[in-house]
Amino acid sequence: MKRGEQIRLENIADTEYEIFALLKQRYSPRIFKEDMLSETHIHQLFEAARWAASSNNLQPWRFIYGERGSDAHKKICDCLSDFNKDWADTAPLLILTVYKKHLEDGSENFHALYDLGLSLGNMTVQGQYLGIGLHHMAGLDWQEAQNIFHVPNEFHIASAIAIGYYGGDSSQLPEDLKEQETAQRERMPLSSFTFNGKWRA
Ligand SMILES: Cc1cc2nc3c(=O)[nH]c(=O)nc-3n(C[C@H](O)[C@H](O)[C@H](O)COP(=O)(O)O)c2cc1C
Repeated sequence: MKRGEQIRLENIADTEYEIFALLKQRYSPRIFKEDMLSETHIHQLFEAARWAASSNNLQPWRFIYGERGSDAHKKICDCLSDFNKDWADTAPLLILTVYKKHLEDGSENFHALYDLGLSLGNMTVQGQYLGIGLHHMAGLDWQEAQNIFHVPNEFHIASAIAIGYYGGDSSQLPEDLKEQETAQRERMPLSSFTFNGKWRA
């Protein structure tokens, strides 16, 4: 198989410089294998998130999750945007990601969202190691989710994630999603967002 074909078929990033294979192979699947995640793998995903760095080690992240077939999965699904609901409703696992907004003295924890993001980076790479794909989603009605799950105002729901083992049958996807699933993955060039010593517009 030619390199270009392999990159497209396996969704491997065509990197400018060589990087860790798990990062290169990661992508956001729109379809997963039917298999449910094993309990151990679910725990390993959260364990990876647990060991992320966080500002003052405050660990402001929280996660609400539901496995397919459960009441929680249905409730999370109900809060997704119509677009996301269409492909994510069969995901074996759905997670709502949440962060604690304030420090103990009541002031805003400006870095809480940053910390949550780091924990999700850990979870994503751990998932990749286990053959599990994570598809992060901003498209959800977070206020509805906040109400349904009785999440106190002190916390904010930041996103949802659809999770399952890689290897779903992409021929089952509607045409537009099938195209996206197999399209070459694109990124801005390094030179457009890294500045050596001086801001460049
Ligand atoms: C915070 C965040 C929100 C996202 N929201 C959605 C979403 O609502 N629906 C969706 O289909 N993809 C969503 N994505 C996935 C991105 O579109 C995807 O990561 C991006 O196109 C790059 O593709 P890749 O992850 O396959 O490399 C989101 C990703 C992130 C990090």
